[in-house]
Amino acid sequence: MMPLGRSSAQQNQLRFAELRRTVGDRKALWIAPLWAMTKRYLVIIRNLTDVSDLPVAYSAYTCHGLESSSPAELVSFDRRLSEAEIDGRIAAGQICEIWRLDSRIVHFRWLSTVRVSLPFLGLDFEPLAGDLLLFEVFTLADKRVRGIHTNVARHSLRRASDGGFQRMVALCAWWNAPALRVAEKNGFKIAGAVTRWQLGPVATFSTSRSVQVQGKTLSVLESRDD
Ligand SMILES: CC(C)(COP(=O)(O)OP(=O)(O)OC[C@H]1O[C@@H](n2cnc3c(N)ncnc32)[C@H](O)[C@@H]1OP(=O)(O)O)[C@@H](O)C(=O)NCCC(=O)NCCS
Repeated sequence: MMPLGRSSAQQNQLRFAELRRTVGDRKALWIAPLWAMTKRYLVIIRNLTDVSDLPVAYSAYTCHGLESSSPAELVSFDRRLSEAEIDGRIAAGQICEIWRLDSRIVHFRWLSTVRVSLPFLGLDFEPLAGDLLLFEVFTLADKRVRGIHTNVARHSLRRASDGGFQRMVALCAWWNAPALRVAEKNGFKIAGAVTRWQLGPVATFSTSRSVQVQGKTLSVLESRDD
């Protein structure tokens, strides 16, 4: 069993394993060192005022809150998270959706209407009123590329729309082809990008289009054209 607070070396190993799984060994070898210096995330937005164009999602998956599980079960599912981090997220008012297929967890996602720390960027994300931030998505490794994220996202977008939200906002690493593919299929549009440049001990940020960084706060301006 991994300790509660994981060292940054352990975190980096787990992240590198995910990168290899997502892009393959060859690409991972050049993306990893580049990523250590330059992290570029696309900020994507789905307008929720009209979700009628979304294809109907099939309903083999059932959605549960964290009460259906335990932090320990989630950690065993995705070892990049620690129990302490999960407790901290819940205390901060962040929402965990756990998706099961035949009672087994196959996917989870974290959403928030409140400020969220993004340690991989060293920034906090501040959702605007009416925005629901999707800040983490994970499908069990041996269940990937079977349409789970695609379908769960459709359920999730409809729930958010029914809940009165106007936009779902998410961040996606430029190299994450599966996540970008699902976003594209589900009508997300690119609102802009944020790049973290690491120059020795100093980090600076650049942004484009509707994305802005002020101090340590990342936000996406209101632009109904997105
Ligand atoms: C991103 C992630 C959630 C996708 O989950 P999933 O359940 O496998 O997604 P789906 O099966 O619904 O869809 C994956 C799509 O990407 C496509 N895809 C997979 N690998 C791809 C690649 N290397 N290049 C291009 N497209 C790719 C699949 O073909 C599929 O599209 P299709 O249905 O049109 O064929 C999953 O890969 C994951 O958990 N990754 C680790 C965590 C992560 O990266 N989270 C996202 C952070 S933004």
